[in-house]
Amino acid sequence: MRSYLPSELSAHQRHDYLLSTIGPRPIAWVSTINEDGIVNLAPFSFFNIFGSNPVTLIFSPARRVKDNSTKHTLQNSGNIKECVVNIVSYDLVGQMVLSSTEYPDGVDEFSKIGLTAEPSDLVKPPRVKEAPAQYECVVKQIIHTGEEGGAGNLIICEVLKMHFREDIFTEDDKIDPLKVDTVARMGGLWYTRAKEGLFQIHNPKGHNNIGFEGIPEFIRNSEIYTANNLSELAKYEALPTVEEVNEFIVSDYFKGRTQHWHLKYKIAENWSQHLITEGKVKEAWCFILAAMKDN
Ligand SMILES: Cc1cc2nc3c(=O)[nH]c(=O)nc-3n(C[C@H](O)[C@H](O)[C@H](O)COP(=O)(O)O)c2cc1C
Repeated sequence: MRSYLPSELSAHQRHDYLLSTIGPRPIAWVSTINEDGIVNLAPFSFFNIFGSNPVTLIFSPARRVKDNSTKHTLQNSGNIKECVVNIVSYDLVGQMVLSSTEYPDGVDEFSKIGLTAEPSDLVKPPRVKEAPAQYECVVKQIIHTGEEGGAGNLIICEVLKMHFREDIFTEDDKIDPLKVDTVARMGGLWYTRAKEGLFQIHNPKGHNNIGFEGIPEFIRNSEIYTANNLSELAKYEALPTVEEVNEFIVSDYFKGRTQHWHLKYKIAENWSQHLITEGKVKEAWCFILAAMKDN
């Protein structure tokens, strides 16, 4: 047995050990709005339901361990005192992770990551239309558990209105867990799909990326790619340059795979999708742009 006082571990180790053992944690995908009307969307797995009458949800945007800064969601919840907690199904997991990018002030995360902002009925922040459940909330109280990096800020919410997507119900008006298809957070890169088990997703790097907005229309509108595939493409800070694509076109890797195609574009899409699921996203980008050029 390894036993520690919290103070005996470094901040990062403590964070990691806790998050790797206290899980799976449900995910609140929270939309808020600032005083200028800019909408913010971010995921929080320090989250649960604490009562159903009144319906009480709590989530915690913590102070960052690295620099003790606070998050937009905390600032907005303190100022406007309203939020919407959206629930994440597996088909939205890529966009949810993308929304954890620490985008600069003023970025509207709904359009950045290709989601539909559905107006709420009773609060100002919009709902994620694609989410299987959406809870419109008023912020009742915020409890700060400390002032140092890693400290929690418990945002205590009362739900004013609940929305459930029609297709998650069974014929006898129960909610089918297979249809909600929730995902939950574990430690590190680990998540779990409730009906299937563990999988991993990399966090976005840096403070910006091309988002869904930056993906060329012909890729976004393709019938091949899922929203989770597009989310991987969207994590890139910039599209491969013309030079990079040209270099890729003359590579043995590309030539070896495309010599007999003349180029059936659909095959190229399937192949690049395969590369995305293998985690080879740079190759996937080059492949799709190269195949497009060749057509
Ligand atoms: C699945 C997931 C769960 C997360 N849970 C939390 C959490 O519970 N508390 C927290 O402070 N940050 C959490 N984060 C990180 C925030 O989402 C991230 O810092 C985000 O950029 C905050 O956005 P904001 O500044 O727009 O509020 C989580 C990230 C992911 C991907």
